Amino acid sequence: MKAHLITYGCQMNEYDTHLVESQLVSFGAAIVDSADEADFILINTCAVRGKPVEKVRSLLGNLRKVKAQRPLVVGMMGCLAQLDEGQQMARKFGVDVLLGPGSLLDIGRALESNERFWGLAFKDDLHDHIPPPPTGKLQAHLTIMRGCDHHCTYCIVPTTRGPQVSRHPDDILRELDTLLTAGVQEVTLLGQNVNAYGVDQGAKLGGYPSFANLLRLVGRSGVRRVKFTTSHPMNFTEDVAAAMADTPAICEYVHLPVQSGSNRVLRRMAREYTREQYLAHIAAIRQHLPHAVLATDIIVGFPGETEEDFQETLSLYDEVGYDSAYMFAYSARPGTPSYKHFDDLPREVKTERLGRLIARQKDWSARLNARKVGTVQEVLLRGDAHDPSFLEGHTRGNHPTVVPKAIGANQPGVYRVRISHATPHMMYGHLIDAEGRDLPELPTLHPEAAALSTPLTMA
Ligand code: 5AD
Ligand code: SF4
Repeated sequence: MKAHLITYGCQMNEYDTHLVESQLVSFGAAIVDSADEADFILINTCAVRGKPVEKVRSLLGNLRKVKAQRPLVVGMMGCLAQLDEGQQMARKFGVDVLLGPGSLLDIGRALESNERFWGLAFKDDLHDHIPPPPTGKLQAHLTIMRGCDHHCTYCIVPTTRGPQVSRHPDDILRELDTLLTAGVQEVTLLGQNVNAYGVDQGAKLGGYPSFANLLRLVGRSGVRRVKFTTSHPMNFTEDVAAAMADTPAICEYVHLPVQSGSNRVLRRMAREYTREQYLAHIAAIRQHLPHAVLATDIIVGFPGETEEDFQETLSLYDEVGYDSAYMFAYSARPGTPSYKHFDDLPREVKTERLGRLIARQKDWSARLNARKVGTVQEVLLRGDAHDPSFLEGHTRGNHPTVVPKAIGANQPGVYRVRISHATPHMMYGHLIDAEGRDLPELPTLHPEAAALSTPLTMA
C-alpha cells in the first residue's frame, strides 16, 4: 500500500500524523510524497475555525472525482472527523475511513476492514503508545496530555478532543529517551493546556508531578532544548516560570494565549481570568526570566466586542509587548456555546480590527527584533533555506533565523549566530565560533567544499 498523509492545523495534529504514519509503516505501507501515487490518502483535519474546514470540504470533493477514476481509499482523521459536520461530509463524499482524535490506533483495524470504518471513541491506548522517533530530525514533538477541561465559549476543541487526560510521566520519559537516542536536540512538549498537566489524575497512585516539575525532569534528561505549548493563563503557576529559570535547557519562550484584553469579552469567552490576573502572570514571568520571549493568541471580533473592547486589546498589547502573536478573526463554530448564544459581528468589522491588530504586532515585532541585532543567539538550524547557500532555523525564543553557510558549518545543527539584521518576521546573522569570531562563509555550494565541513556542536 502507498499512503499519503495531509495535515491541517496545530502541532498536536503534526504529532498525530506522525503517529499514524508510523503505524502505517509498521503494517508494511510505503509513505509517498505525492497524492497521485497513493492508493490511500488520509487527511488529518482541524475544526477550530471555518477556513480549515472548508479546505477539507473542497479536498474531499476533488478526491471523490479521483475515486471515480481509479481505486483509492480516502480517510479522514482528527478534530473534524469527531464532529457531526465532518461525519456529514464523510457520508457525502464517500470517505472510507474516519478516525477521531481518540481512536487513532484503530488505523490497523480500519485497514483490515473491507467496509467503511468509523472509529470515534476516546480510548486510552494512545497514552502508553510510544511512536518511533522521526528520522534525521533535530526537533520533535512530544505529547504529554490530550484533551481539554476548559470550556471557552468559542472553542470546539473540548468537543473534538474530549476531556483532559495526562500521560504517565514514565511514558513521557520513555518517549523522550527514544528521541534523544535518535539525535533530537529540541523537544516541544505538547498539550491543549500543558500547565494543567497531572491535574486530571488528582490523587491517583503512581504520582504525577506538577507541570513545573515535569519540566525540570525533562530539562535535566540531557536534551539540549525544551519548549512547550500551549498554556492556559488560568492554570499558569509562578513555579513554571521558576522551573524555566532554574533549568537551563528550557527555552525562555512563553506562549500564553490571552485571547482579548477586555474583561467584558474575557467573561463572555469564559476564560476564567481577568486582564489584571493575566498581567500579573506576565510580571512573574519577567521577574524570573528578564529575557523571556512572549507570544500569544488573540481572537478579534468575538460576538459583542465593541470598539472600546478592542481598544483594550490594543492597550494590553502595548503593555506586554509581544514578540509574536497568532491573531484570528472570530469564526463561529457550530457546537460551541458562543455559536448558539451570541450573534456574530459583521465580517468587515472583524477584518478591519484584525488588520489594525496585525499592524500593531508588526510594529512590536520590528522593534523587539531590532533590539536583537548585535546579540549572539543559539540557533537550531534545521536545514537548507530556500536559497541552498543559506541554512534556516529558529532561536531559543522561536525567532525564524537565516544564516549563510560557513566553512565547517553547513549541515543542520545547533550553532552560535551573531544577529546582523532583523525584520518583523525574520532575523539574519552570521555563524560564529566559540570565541565569537565569524566563521568564513562558504564561497559556493560546491560539493567538495561541503565535504570538507563537519557539523559543529556548540559548547
Ligand atoms: N474563532 C477564531 N479563533 C479561534 N481559536 C479557537 N477557536 C476559535 C474560533 N472559534 C483560536 C484561539 C486559540 C487558537 C488555537 O485558535 O486563539 O488559542
Ligand atoms: Fe479551547 Fe480554551 Fe481548551 Fe484552549 S484552553 S483548547 S481555547 S477550550
